[in-house]
Amino acid sequence: MKNISCNNYNIHINDWEALESYLEKKSASQTFIIVDSNTEKYCLHQFLEKTQIDVHIIKIPVGESFKTIETCQKVWAEILRKGTDRHALVINLGGGVIGDLGGFCAATYMRGISFIQIPTTLLSQVDASVGGKLGVDFLGFKNMIGLIQEPEGVFIFTDFLKTLPVDQMRSGYAELLKHGLIADRLTWKSLTENTDINNLDFESIVYQSVLIKKQVTEQDPTEKGMRKILNFGHTIGHAIESYWLDSSSPLLHGEAVAIGMVSEAFLSYRIGNISENELFDIRNAIVKMYGHHPKYVKPAEEILHIMKADKKNQKGEYRFALLESVGKACFDIPVSSEYVEESLLFYKEKL
Ligand SMILES: NC(=O)c1ccc[n+]([C@@H]2O[C@H](COP(=O)([O-])OP(=O)(O)OC[C@H]3O[C@@H](n4cnc5c(N)ncnc54)[C@H](O)[C@@H]3O)[C@@H](O)[C@H]2O)c1
Ligand SMILES: [Zn+2]
Repeated sequence: MKNISCNNYNIHINDWEALESYLEKKSASQTFIIVDSNTEKYCLHQFLEKTQIDVHIIKIPVGESFKTIETCQKVWAEILRKGTDRHALVINLGGGVIGDLGGFCAATYMRGISFIQIPTTLLSQVDASVGGKLGVDFLGFKNMIGLIQEPEGVFIFTDFLKTLPVDQMRSGYAELLKHGLIADRLTWKSLTENTDINNLDFESIVYQSVLIKKQVTEQDPTEKGMRKILNFGHTIGHAIESYWLDSSSPLLHGEAVAIGMVSEAFLSYRIGNISENELFDIRNAIVKMYGHHPKYVKPAEEILHIMKADKKNQKGEYRFALLESVGKACFDIPVSSEYVEESLLFYKEKL
């Protein structure tokens, strides 16, 4: 059982009592819990057994393709139909899709009602549920519509990971690797030495990673500066993820970020921040875990085009969060499109 306190709320790890006591104190006029069919099947009964509260269940379809404004409209309509006032509570029980979308629905409904996050995937436990970024995808662009608003609490239960499919575990693991690369060399080393993803001390790994994310986001909640280092691997990763979003073989977030981290490690090397050996160590460690998939970086122009629309690339210029060294990051580094193309070629190169 571990707790991390943030400025305005707490993150509790494996602490059912903290959740019970939050719900008791809150005494919300009505409580809604958002689930998808997987979290309904694997997580909801445990939540209901432990908390014994009355909830209205709102079930949304599974997956990123439903992280849309249309799904929000259905959620808002269900809340409205119950005649909800501003003292209602929304509980997001699920992965990053539910956390981002459910949080967005709560933060905008009647200009904002309370919500808490109970993240049930590794990715959402160490990343999506911390830092208050909420939103939905729009016209094929990831997280295009949204806002930053902190929840009233984050309650992480690592036991929920037991039912998570291995590819989803691997997807979340990319964020753990990222946190190590940008902020803690020793974490990065120990994570890459691990060979069995299911046989880890998740309570302490999740704690360590959440702590890194919390420390970074707390220094810069609205992403004016420091927080941008969390985008390492994501500028290229998001573009690749967006490009394949509507295809028959979409990539999981972490899989796209894994490719992004290799390419952006190359950019870090190209501007002289890390050595060639370090670059190859990073690439080998990532490829060992995620495999090598050159087909995903084939349409370089398309990927560059998508990057241009990225909120972080202003005035057509590419700006990256890169590694300053292994375990430390820098941000707002201007990079030419030639370098970006080279970095995609580097990922594509035969091993
Ligand atoms: N807000 C942020 O700061 C932030 C950061 C990173 C990612 N994200 C967002 O998070 C999303 C990805 O999150 P995700 O990977 O958790 O996706 P997800 O919510 O789609 O969950 C992945 C899959 O796991 C299933 N699942 C969830 N919990 C389960 C459990 N305990 N057992 C079995 N199956 C379970 C889900 O039903 C789904 O099929 C993306 O939309 C991304 O943009 C947000
Ligand atoms: Zn991410």
